[in-house]
Amino acid sequence: MRNLGLNEIRKEFLDFFKEKDHIVLKSFPLIPQDDNSLLLVNAGMAPLKKYFTGELKMAKDRACSSQRCIRTGDIDSVGITQRHGTFFEMLGNFSFGDYFKKEAIEWSWEFLNKKMEIPEEVLWVSVYEEDDEAYNIWKNEIGIPEEKIVRLGKEDNFWELEVGPCGPCSEIHVDRGEKYGCGSPDCKPGCDCDRFLEVWNLVFTQFNKDSDGVYHKLANPNIDTGMGLERITMVLENADNIFEIGLVKDIISKIEKLSNKKYKENDKDDISIRIIADHARAITFLVYDGVVPSNEGRGYVLRRLLRRASRHGKLLGIKGNFITEVSKVVMEVYKSEYPELLEEQERIFKILNSEENKFQETIDQGLVILESIIAEANTNKLKVIDSKDAFKLYDTYGFPIDLTVEILEENNMSVDIEKFNMLMEEQRNRSRESRNEDNIGWSSKDNLEIKSLEATEFLGYNLLNNKSKIKRIFVNDNSVGEIKTGEKGIIVVEESSFYGESGGQVGDQGIIKTKDSKAIVINTTKNKNNAILHHVEVENGTFRLEEEVEMKVDIQRRRDTMKNHTATHLLHKALREVLGNHVHQAGSYVSSERLRFDITHFEAISKDDLLKVQNIVNDVISLGMPVNSSEMTLEESTKLGAIGLFEDKYKDVVRVINIGNGYSTELCGGTHVVSTSDIQMLKIISESSVAAGIRRIEAITGRSVYEDLKANENLINDISSILKSDKNEITHRIENIQKEVKSLEKQITSFKEKDSKKDLNTVLNEAKEIQGIKVIIHKFENLDTQTFRNLGDTLKDKLGTGIIILSNLNKDKLNFLTIVTKDLTNKVSAGDIVKQVAIKTGGNGGGRRDFAMAGGKDITKVDIAINSVVDILNELIK
Ligand code: ALA
Repeated sequence: MRNLGLNEIRKEFLDFFKEKDHIVLKSFPLIPQDDNSLLLVNAGMAPLKKYFTGELKMAKDRACSSQRCIRTGDIDSVGITQRHGTFFEMLGNFSFGDYFKKEAIEWSWEFLNKKMEIPEEVLWVSVYEEDDEAYNIWKNEIGIPEEKIVRLGKEDNFWELEVGPCGPCSEIHVDRGEKYGCGSPDCKPGCDCDRFLEVWNLVFTQFNKDSDGVYHKLANPNIDTGMGLERITMVLENADNIFEIGLVKDIISKIEKLSNKKYKENDKDDISIRIIADHARAITFLVYDGVVPSNEGRGYVLRRLLRRASRHGKLLGIKGNFITEVSKVVMEVYKSEYPELLEEQERIFKILNSEENKFQETIDQGLVILESIIAEANTNKLKVIDSKDAFKLYDTYGFPIDLTVEILEENNMSVDIEKFNMLMEEQRNRSRESRNEDNIGWSSKDNLEIKSLEATEFLGYNLLNNKSKIKRIFVNDNSVGEIKTGEKGIIVVEESSFYGESGGQVGDQGIIKTKDSKAIVINTTKNKNNAILHHVEVENGTFRLEEEVEMKVDIQRRRDTMKNHTATHLLHKALREVLGNHVHQAGSYVSSERLRFDITHFEAISKDDLLKVQNIVNDVISLGMPVNSSEMTLEESTKLGAIGLFEDKYKDVVRVINIGNGYSTELCGGTHVVSTSDIQMLKIISESSVAAGIRRIEAITGRSVYEDLKANENLINDISSILKSDKNEITHRIENIQKEVKSLEKQITSFKEKDSKKDLNTVLNEAKEIQGIKVIIHKFENLDTQTFRNLGDTLKDKLGTGIIILSNLNKDKLNFLTIVTKDLTNKVSAGDIVKQVAIKTGGNGGGRRDFAMAGGKDITKVDIAINSVVDILNELIK
């Protein structure tokens, strides 16, 4: 057996399949693109679903990757055992309707046995119980003895995600020897003990499971394989478990240094060390991929992992923030495959640090709440606190349950963990349901005939009208010979200048006509082969197959769209320049009216930065830079530094849009203006958040900016005519009006006060005596809060010693105020009095012993409340 480390095995694996004519794919981000059925990428095949169903195609029908993955199903076991982890890389080879079982099995054997030199004696396999074909390949072609081929049921040997391609599978296991075993004579793959380690899963993908759980047979069966990189490294390094492979050891020794504790000396510390070693990898990659901590979805996974790691750091006795220190080692360890982590170090550390700080606050805040829960339980002589309180602490304040349990134990108390888990489960179900609700599926509903149409030649990069011949007509999804007045359908021609909706750019509109007939093209789309589908409504006449037609794109609409598309590239460039190179396109929509551009960025973009971006784009527009397009291989485009999302990235040739001879270079299939000055002008109209870590910018160009200018001008004209003031004077005029309003408000307040003060002597004369104390009870109306308080103070001064209870009904708001002069606060508290009074109206409140205010609720009960004051006082005065 060869002795290889993680980075070497990854390289050997990818090289092995490259030699077998596979495209080597770079790991996709952990955030699934365009797939709402999945929170995080958890298998090598997850980002490739559309290739398995045939919706998208690569230049070759075989590929391989080492995909970063996160699985959180067993998060609570991570650290406790030596087997569980959340972050891992999955090595995989994939066939999209190309090779099948025989090659997949033979190559997996060749790689493990020949290339990695794992001896035949320790390799075992399992197959799905009904899969004789796989069984026979293992037995007859590879020569595995029958007793080492185990047939297992659906639970073990059928692989599937919630939604997507799936099928029966065959697994390869490594026998690690009796010392790991349970001793049973029946011990073999499928047994629960640690002796047989599953290293590679070969899935024979034959079905596509839809969001209703229905399995559809795939036209072409596929191969999807997955081998945990850490697991195979563990085998080749002869390590005991995934925490003892070379690279993870580096991370562990950093934790040892930070904590002054040694791994493998104390079980409790080991758990903490393993948790940090695993979680530090997961959070470094999550933040790199654009996830930011939050209370839902991916952001919650990140928050939970980070807080768990941070908490275990504290248990190990590490003082202050330390996560970035560990994350730095993660970056070092992974830099050969992921040099980009180091490039993004500053941003990643900023986010990790800020979350660690927040967690510190959480702990402080949680402790205060927990202390009050404990105090209350003590008063009520309870030894077990309400699970709901513990759950609230966890769910709302992020206070970890194990910390709650620990602190309770120190106070000789406990919490019903089973009930707590039940509440957790309910919460999980709620979030699962809400995830399923926005599951929109990802398979196309087009009919098969339309889906399989061959490419139409697209002339629209240079032409906006052309002549062509009708090749196919569809009405109600049926292929027909003609389409008549009033009918709606799809027309396919030999060559078309109409752009089919793709890459975020809307489809063209326009007309198709002959001498006698005319159809309006409402939208244009494409199938995966690039057949252009003109969605039409026939205005008059009849269109027949093979007929010559004239195609005319709506020029103005298309030109506006092109301006927005080129402007999107300029915006992308300027955003990276101003905010940094962590900015990546996360989605875009380009229409004739506006452009929408989503980017990965962790915080709101400041007004200043937005203005800078807008200025840069407008400068480039005014420079009139040339816009050129060219076709090349993906490798060549990478050399040019081309960026951008591109649907056809894995085809033989890619299209590159080059603005200003290298100022901006992007992969793009869309249509563009010839010179940046054609855009005329760009104006950003909004900046907002779409999801955690994703910002959205909307902007307009060309004619829309002109329309916007006109609308603003009309608004200003309207304002100046209402204010009867010249345009240049309106800000000044508004400021004056505001000043006037303020001064009038002041006057009103002082009038009211004067008015009420006149009555103050009457109010003073109303004072009664209760238990030897002077008491003023009075109802006021229509006072603002400040005046109301001031009156209270004046009355107190005049009264000298006593109690004052006042109400104020101002419009629909009822307030009570109580003052107890300092000499009497030992007898009664203003807070208690005002609370009792407010309760009479269904309200609540309280405050200090000498001064308190409360809000009333039912304003019709003000008299009842005021009339009950005497009784309340008799009750409260000691
Ligand atoms: N998709 C399969 C797995 O994750 C290979 O095990």
